[in-house]
Amino acid sequence: MATALITGTNRGIGLELSRQLRARGDEVIALCRKPSPELEALGVRLFEGVEVTDRGALQAVSRDLGATRIDVLINNAGIFERESFHDLDFDSIRRQFEVNALGALLVASIMQGHLARGSKIILITSRMGSIGDNGSGSYYGYRMSKAALNMAGVNLAHDFRDKGVAVAILHPGMVATDMVGPHGIPVAEAAEGLITRIDELRIEDSGGFWHANGEQLPW
Ligand SMILES: NC(=O)c1ccc[n+]([C@@H]2O[C@H](COP(=O)([O-])OP(=O)(O)OC[C@H]3O[C@@H](n4cnc5c(N)ncnc54)[C@H](OP(=O)(O)O)[C@@H]3O)[C@@H](O)[C@H]2O)c1
Repeated sequence: MATALITGTNRGIGLELSRQLRARGDEVIALCRKPSPELEALGVRLFEGVEVTDRGALQAVSRDLGATRIDVLINNAGIFERESFHDLDFDSIRRQFEVNALGALLVASIMQGHLARGSKIILITSRMGSIGDNGSGSYYGYRMSKAALNMAGVNLAHDFRDKGVAVAILHPGMVATDMVGPHGIPVAEAAEGLITRIDELRIEDSGGFWHANGEQLPW
């Protein structure tokens, strides 16, 4: 039985990851801003009122966890706001950086004391953050913030290699959640793929960028 800490667990991919990991017997430490009835029904260890940009809230979680070891730290919380070049909203772009890139780095930084040799750090990114895969442009804040997240992931892989902690940068696919609407794969399929990638992750592969279906993605 492993212990996973997951951010953004009240709905979408974070909720489904919590459900599937719990169902197979893992312990889930679920962070969210506001719990949903679906999350409360899972029997996970729940921390509410946790913004991933809020250092104090994250430190309080870490204090409460005491000596708990985290085997898998899943940075899932994210936001997607749409802007084109003709409709730039710099507050929105800044917000996406704060949550998608800096939030994940802050969570890793504050939770590092709970990681030990064999633990894993997972960043749920998007292929929209891939420069090589960008064939259509637009979505400045989302693309730039996920590209920054990807860079943070490679840096984390370097910083944690000697400690035996592996890092994976994972794209879930286009998934039918509130974020993108109904046009996507079922969330259960995405979570299943992500969990397979997490289980397979080895220190030798740390810092890689994969689709949940196993395909390696271009930077
Ligand atoms: N769905 C897709 O097709 C797709 C594709 C590529 C990548 N992704 C990535 O997958 C991850 C999960 O997305 P999803 O599809 O499950 O989206 P979602 O249904 O919109 O859920 C987003 C989750 O993140 C939480 N969150 C947002 N801002 C937060 C903050 N500041 N502090 C704490 N929690 C926050 C939300 O909590 P609240 O309910 O409180 O807002 C919610 O639990 C994201 O990182 C996203 O970028 C999704």
